[in-house]
Amino acid sequence: MSEHKTFYITTPIYYPSDKLHIGHSYTTVACDALARFKRMQGYDVMFLTGTDEHGQKIQDKAADAGVTPKEYVDKIVATVKDLWKLLDVSYDRFIRTTDDYHMESCQKIFTKLYEQGDIYKGEYIGHYCKPCESFWTDSQLVDGKCPDCGREVYDAHEEAYFFKTSKYADRLLKLYEENPQFIQPESRKNEMIAFIKQGLQDTCVSRTSVKWGIPVPFDPKHTMYVWVDALSNYISALGYGNEKYHDYDKFWPADLHMVGKEILRFHTILWPAMLMALDLPLPKRVFGHGWLLMNGGKMSKSVGNVVDPVILCDRYGVDAIRYFLLREIPFGNDGMFTNEALITRINSDLANDLGNLLSRTTAMIEKYFNGVLPAPEAPEEIDSELQKMCLQTTAEYAAKMDELQFSAALASLWQYISRCNKYIDQTMPWALAKDEAKKARLGTVLYNLAESLRIIGVLSSPVMVKTSVHLFKALGTEQTSWESIQKFGVLKPGTHISHTNVLFPRIDMDKELAALEALN
Ligand code: MSP
Repeated sequence: MSEHKTFYITTPIYYPSDKLHIGHSYTTVACDALARFKRMQGYDVMFLTGTDEHGQKIQDKAADAGVTPKEYVDKIVATVKDLWKLLDVSYDRFIRTTDDYHMESCQKIFTKLYEQGDIYKGEYIGHYCKPCESFWTDSQLVDGKCPDCGREVYDAHEEAYFFKTSKYADRLLKLYEENPQFIQPESRKNEMIAFIKQGLQDTCVSRTSVKWGIPVPFDPKHTMYVWVDALSNYISALGYGNEKYHDYDKFWPADLHMVGKEILRFHTILWPAMLMALDLPLPKRVFGHGWLLMNGGKMSKSVGNVVDPVILCDRYGVDAIRYFLLREIPFGNDGMFTNEALITRINSDLANDLGNLLSRTTAMIEKYFNGVLPAPEAPEEIDSELQKMCLQTTAEYAAKMDELQFSAALASLWQYISRCNKYIDQTMPWALAKDEAKKARLGTVLYNLAESLRIIGVLSSPVMVKTSVHLFKALGTEQTSWESIQKFGVLKPGTHISHTNVLFPRIDMDKELAALEALN
């Protein structure tokens, strides 16, 4: 792996209209796991996240709260940063669309597109959905309501600037055809193709009624449409159109824009069309993941069915939450969030499978070898088999992570954890310990288990940051790199191994559900 390979990954920038919930955490944790995985593989990673702070909705929220929009978002942005800290999110850069350098870039982009004729002045007649910050024509409405969220829209009729999205329809279709990985998953690509084929309209990109936005520089009674402002963050954050940063040449085009499925359209139609107009390279991949659902509906601030990630982390620990989010639902699909499912995962995968493996292994090394890791002798067939599966797990895990199949990557790792537990049952170290003549064999078995745990620690580290540190500490090792797990047998005999506390205490389901109920 070349040290100079770069990897640029982005989350959507979140609306700071209210505190973020577990649904937003889902996107961010997924990006974080991938960013950590690529860093571990030696990539020079730029992991960008941030907040999308303009628009009518925020203007209204601030007015309701009796503060200025900037005061309003400043407060929420602080809670967003706290949340990412709590969730161990290792972003490299945090962009706020109210940052001066970003606004400067947007104004340059808007002006350039206007001067070259890709943006023109016209009149907007249609409907606007505030929560989605989206414009709709008559034919796009479903039963007179917003086709994305089903809420009321209001009539809009005003002078406005338009971006010539329609001009790029053919080039977009060609882009999807020539770059099959551009939109993922595959099923979503077909939705985008259908959307374009039904006739692409130009996009209204300015408003005179919305005051809280970036002014159009050559016609300042207009503010820019929030999506033009927001999408530009992916390049302004690298320094395109401003002097704040100088990373554009190094990191653009993005390797991956990770987005929820409802905003895939903006990222695979409007955004590439804008980039085509600007004559800039296009992102390599846009992945539209599914939603976390609660009681059948999308978790959302305005529906009021949100789950507070701070409470969850407080009760179960951040690693349990990160693990659950990425393990429970195949990435790309929608999935239900339930407390039962979360507790079941904690009890079975974390307390039982992983927790037991660590606790049994370290306890036996302590008991039979005074905590000093024995050297392995020549492997028996069962050992070679275990080692082979270990290396296969590493390869499979890496492939699944690159495909963003987090759940499959973790499933493969947990199959190996189960295999290790079975290896204990098969080799029966407690029986070997009774016979002094089998001391060397006992040493080999325990060595293999400790080395397996080290590799499990490395593989789990992008998802369970704290747990992996705990594992490495128990194993007394600093061999935690990606290279170090490309072979089996790196842990040094003689290393001091410490028996470790319970990683994840078992949770009593009934009591816990009752306690959660009481919290509500
Ligand atoms: N500001 C825009 C994005 C602009 S990107 C240039 C936006 N913000 S958002 O705060 O509404 O949503 C941000 C992300 O959170 C989206 O990818 C969305 O899918 C994700 N999620 C919000 N609720 C979610 C669930 N219930 N489940 C999964 N993801 C969810 O859209």
